[in-house]
Amino acid sequence: MKKLVALTGAGISAESGISTFRDAGGLWEKYPVQQVASHDGWLADPVLVNNFYNERRRQLFDVEPNRAHRLLAQLEHHFDVAVVTQNVDNLHERAGSTNVIHLHGELMKVTSSRNPDDPTCIETLTRDNFEVQPGQLAKDGSLLRPYIVFFQEAVPMIDVAATLASLADIFVIIGTSLNVYPAAGLVHYVRSGVPIYLIDPKDVDAHMADVTFIRKTASEGMAELTRLLTGETV
Ligand code: OAD
Repeated sequence: MKKLVALTGAGISAESGISTFRDAGGLWEKYPVQQVASHDGWLADPVLVNNFYNERRRQLFDVEPNRAHRLLAQLEHHFDVAVVTQNVDNLHERAGSTNVIHLHGELMKVTSSRNPDDPTCIETLTRDNFEVQPGQLAKDGSLLRPYIVFFQEAVPMIDVAATLASLADIFVIIGTSLNVYPAAGLVHYVRSGVPIYLIDPKDVDAHMADVTFIRKTASEGMAELTRLLTGETV
């Protein structure tokens, strides 16, 4: 089976009702990114940061995967699919994707602030118990923090993602402005000659020649991509 790697961003979850970050009305217009999503912001005000992610989790219960998530999951019937997502929601998994790499962490998980990547400290929250309280501690006694890769922090999964990109036979980019590195640089690991598709309703600069641009929303674009790759009309 050919290997298909999809790099996804906030745009694939937009039709589910989750705000993107940099579009008009996006999250970073309402909340200063330095305050709620940077390492310095966490150190300055952990209560504010935990509250921000408590609120993001609450919203996650009200939304469902959309057609784009489902069509991407269904490509597993035809390809060996890996989804490399910048999203911290769980909509790819809920749509049925079985191989999802979260580059920027996961909303439903919390961890130690002393050693965020210590697997023994990573806890999965539940719908009944998803709010981190002020002063709540991780197993190692440090403050409990969101399992989110903040700006100014390393991206532990980037090596895994780069290897996947380098092995791809087909590379697909969906709903990301490609503003944030190292995720935006993954396209440079794709071997020359491998087809690259980019689905986004707005112009996005992939910094690459030879990209097939599908200038549509994620759900319409995924329907078109499915037709192009499998011949199936969906
Ligand atoms: P952005 O908000 O930067 O970009 C969203 C992209 O989705 C834009 O290119 C939009 O045109 C596109 N878009 C909007 N609606 C769409 C739709 N219905 N279908 C398809 N595309 C649509 O979000 P990301 O590129 O994902 O990091 O942002 C990357 C990272 O920056 C995030 O993971 C987050 C943020 O700061 C952290 O929080 C660590």
